[in-house]
Amino acid sequence: MPHRAPGAPGRSRQQILSGKPIRYYRPKGSPDIRYLIDEGFQAFNAGRLSEACHIFADKMLTPERDTTIGLTVAGALTPAGLGGCIIELMDRGLIDFVISTGANLYHDLHYALNFTLHRGTPFLDDVELYEEGIIRIYDVLFPATVLLETDKYIREFLVRAKLEGAMSTSELHYRLGQDLLQHNPACVEYSVVAKAAECGVPIYTSSPGDSSIGMNIAYHELMNGGTFMIDPNKDVNEVCAIILNGKHNGCVILGGGSPKNFYLQGQPTLWEVYGIPKGGNDFFIQFTTDQAVFGGLSGATPSEAVSWGKVNPGVLPDTVVAYCDSTIAFPLFCEYAVGSTHSRRPRRELVHKRDALVADLVRQARAARDKPVDKEPAEIDRHR
Ligand SMILES: NC(=O)c1ccc[n+]([C@@H]2O[C@H](COP(=O)([O-])OP(=O)(O)OC[C@H]3O[C@@H](n4cnc5c(N)ncnc54)[C@H](O)[C@@H]3O)[C@@H](O)[C@H]2O)c1
Repeated sequence: MPHRAPGAPGRSRQQILSGKPIRYYRPKGSPDIRYLIDEGFQAFNAGRLSEACHIFADKMLTPERDTTIGLTVAGALTPAGLGGCIIELMDRGLIDFVISTGANLYHDLHYALNFTLHRGTPFLDDVELYEEGIIRIYDVLFPATVLLETDKYIREFLVRAKLEGAMSTSELHYRLGQDLLQHNPACVEYSVVAKAAECGVPIYTSSPGDSSIGMNIAYHELMNGGTFMIDPNKDVNEVCAIILNGKHNGCVILGGGSPKNFYLQGQPTLWEVYGIPKGGNDFFIQFTTDQAVFGGLSGATPSEAVSWGKVNPGVLPDTVVAYCDSTIAFPLFCEYAVGSTHSRRPRRELVHKRDALVADLVRQARAARDKPVDKEPAEIDRHR
């Protein structure tokens, strides 16, 4: 038998939820972990993780590179307690903006509202869980009432905040974060959405309808006659404007999914659509379990991204993919960064600069559009 048999019959709801609460782990910069990564992680994916730590700590974070850093988040990371790593990076100014699946932001709200997710086992009877009203994300377990209460909070927030008309997801998440801080100020230490609002870090969602946040926004429109809606065009333009403004640009990609492309499409949008020859990404770090051989974007390599103008051709040595479970790789990576020489940077607080950055994008895009065409499209210079 490869696995234990599913669920022991007759386990009570209390027993199923008796595992320790999942808490957000905050990396401290452990010298032992740095030693392990420098001296012990030498080859294969350990070697790639070590390389990723060095690219981030020794290049991306140095003041002379002045890199605008985007973090993309896919996979069930906040349910697994990794929100604390994101909070620590934001607090230290080590990431400047975030693109996340809605699921990770929705599940972050459970922590913000002091609901408990429990450690458990994947070897349970899901029919029994359904009958007991328990939700399972692999081995993370929590009562279905957590979903209902979180949904209720989102709906009440939408009414309370009186949001009207079309808005970017960065604005929605900023307002949501401010509401959480008002509701429960202590949650700034254990909510990504609340911490981002405090630090001025914009958070984007590449597929806003694909989460319980989107589901409750849809309810608000249908049942309350709310006019509030997400405008993905604003997100596309804000992300582009942030990248356009970056002296250097770099990303840390957790998993893959739509957040990965939403970040990487920034440079092609600039050269291909707006005609602005910004050039591609300067640094690229990805932790993923996805493979390149199936042709999907989630597993596509930095080298493939060069052909699209997403990554600068000359910087392949500053790109790395570590084929790892991010729940293992990311906390180690953050420990390394927090313990490194440049473990604090001035926060860019891009949330407060979005309008000015988009205005600059418009100015440059108009100049590019109105410039006399002197080259064939195929010869367009995509580089700086
Ligand atoms: N209630 C909600 O709002 C809602 C909506 C969607 C999903 N969910 C839950 O949230 C979880 C996360 O969903 P999601 O939409 O963020 O992304 P996902 O789980 O669909 O993952 C997307 C990408 O991340 C990669 N990935 C996933 N786990 C990884 C890991 N541990 N290490 C490295 N790469 C990994 C995948 O291969 C894929 O490329 C789901 O498992 C689901 O249970 C909740």
